[in-house]
Amino acid sequence: MPVVAVVGGQWGDEGKGKVIDMLAGEAEVVIRATGGDNAGHTVINPQGEFALHLVPAGVFNPEATCIIAPGVLLNPAVLIQELDALEKRGVATRGLLISDRTHMVMPYHLTKDRLQDAQRGDPIGTTGRGIGPAYEDKVARVGVRVGDLRQPEVLRKRVRAAVEKSNQTLSALGATELTDPNAVVDEYLGYADRLGPFISDVSAVVAGALDRDAKILLEGAQATLLDIDHGTYPYATSSACTVAGLCQGSGIPPRAITHSIGVYKAYSTRVGTGPMPTELDDETGDYLPERAHEFGTTTGRARRCGWFDGVVSRYTARINGFDSIALTRLDIHDEMDSINVCVAYELDGKRVEHPPSDPAVFGSCRPVYETLPGWKTSICNIADFEELPPEAAQFVGRIEDIVGVPANVIGVGPARAQSVGRGDFWRF
Ligand code: GDP
Ligand code: IMO
Ligand code: MG
Repeated sequence: MPVVAVVGGQWGDEGKGKVIDMLAGEAEVVIRATGGDNAGHTVINPQGEFALHLVPAGVFNPEATCIIAPGVLLNPAVLIQELDALEKRGVATRGLLISDRTHMVMPYHLTKDRLQDAQRGDPIGTTGRGIGPAYEDKVARVGVRVGDLRQPEVLRKRVRAAVEKSNQTLSALGATELTDPNAVVDEYLGYADRLGPFISDVSAVVAGALDRDAKILLEGAQATLLDIDHGTYPYATSSACTVAGLCQGSGIPPRAITHSIGVYKAYSTRVGTGPMPTELDDETGDYLPERAHEFGTTTGRARRCGWFDGVVSRYTARINGFDSIALTRLDIHDEMDSINVCVAYELDGKRVEHPPSDPAVFGSCRPVYETLPGWKTSICNIADFEELPPEAAQFVGRIEDIVGVPANVIGVGPARAQSVGRGDFWRF
C-alpha cells in the first residue's frame, strides 16, 4: 500500500496543501511531520477556502486520521485557533492526534525570533513564528514537549529551566520584558484542557497503520531550498524539509516510502531574503505577482517572483529522489507570449549546472534561459492531459526533461478539482 511523501521542490508555497487535500480523499492517515506554523497551506475544495498552518491538509476527509508528529513544532495557541475556526466552518477535527513527543513553541521563542532576526546584520526575514529559537531549545535539550502538558509538575520544572536560559539570552538581545515562568505555565495548562483529548502516543498509531498496510500521506512543510542542510543556508528555515526529514519527523522508516512527490510551481517564488538567480525585476516581475496573487499565506508578505529555475529544481529532485512531480500553477502562464526556463547558470564566463553552496557565489550566478512559446488561452477548465494546448504540453515536457522526473499531476487552477492527472499513480 502506498506511503506517499509530498515535499516542496523550491522555496515553499508550491501548492503542497492543494496536493495533499487532493490525495487525502483516499488516505487513511495524513501526517504533518516537520516545521511549525511558519507553514501556510492553502486548500480550496467544496467546503471552502482554508489556510492551514498546523492541522494536516487531510482534515477534509472525515475518515482520515490526521497526525501532528514529533518532528513538528507546535504553538498550542495557534493550533487551538485553527481548530476552532475549522469547527466553526463545519470541518470535523476529531480525527486529529498530536504526538506527546512534539515540541512546543513557547512565548519566549517568539520574542527571541523577532529580536534575533532584527539584530542580524543581514536578516533572514523569518516568519516571526519562533521556529529557529524553538528548534534551538529542542536541540539543546531544554525544549518543552506536548506530553509535559499532562504533568503540571514536570511542565513547571521544564519551563523554569528553559526560561532561566532564555531570559539570559533575551537580556543580551535587549528585550524590554523578561519571561515570568509561572505565567507561561498557567497559560500552557489552559491549553492542556483543550488539547488533552488529541494527545497520544502517536508512534503506536503509526506502527499500526504500517502493519495493516494503510494508505499513508506525509505532508511536507517549507521546501528543500529552505532545508537546514541542503537549502540556501543561512537563508533557510531550521528544520529538515526533505523526504528524509519527513521520515525522521514522523517515525516512518525510509524503506516504507513507496512514492515521493516533488511539488514545484511553473515559476519560482521566495519569501524572505537570500539569493534567487531567476528573480525578475522587469515588467514580468510586476505582472507575475499580480496575476498569481503571490502574497504569503502566513505573513501576508509579497512573494518575490522569477522564472522556473531548472538548476535548483534538478538539485532538489536529486536530494529527495522524487518519483514524480506535481507541477502547479501552470495556468498562471496562460497569458504569456513566451515563457523562460532557466537551464543553467553562467558564472565568470563558465556554465554552472549545480547551485553553489556559498550564498555570495550563488547570488552572482546569471541564469541561462531557454524561451518556450506561450499558449495564450485559459487552461483552467481542462480536465485531461491530452486536452492541454500543445505549447503547454511542450512546457511540461521540457520541465520533466530538465528536472529528470515525470510530472504526473499538473495544476491548472487553485481548487481541488483543477488538476490534470497522468498515469495511475495520481489516483493514489
Ligand atoms: P503550500 O505552502 O505549498 O501549501 O502553498 P501555499 O498554499 O502557500 O501557496 C500556493 C498558492 O497557490 C495557494 O494560493 C493555492 O491556492 C494556489 N495554487 C495551488 N495550485 C494552484 C494551481 O494549479 N493554479 C493556481 N492558479 N493556483 C494554485
Ligand atoms: P510553506 O510550508 C515559504 C521562509 C521564511 C524565511 C525563512 C526562515 O507554506 O511552504 P522561519 O520563520 O522558518 O525561521 O523563516 O523561511 N519560510 C517559508 N517560505 N513557505 C513556507 O512554508 C515557509 N516557511 C518558512 O520566509 O525566509
Ligand atoms: Mg505556504
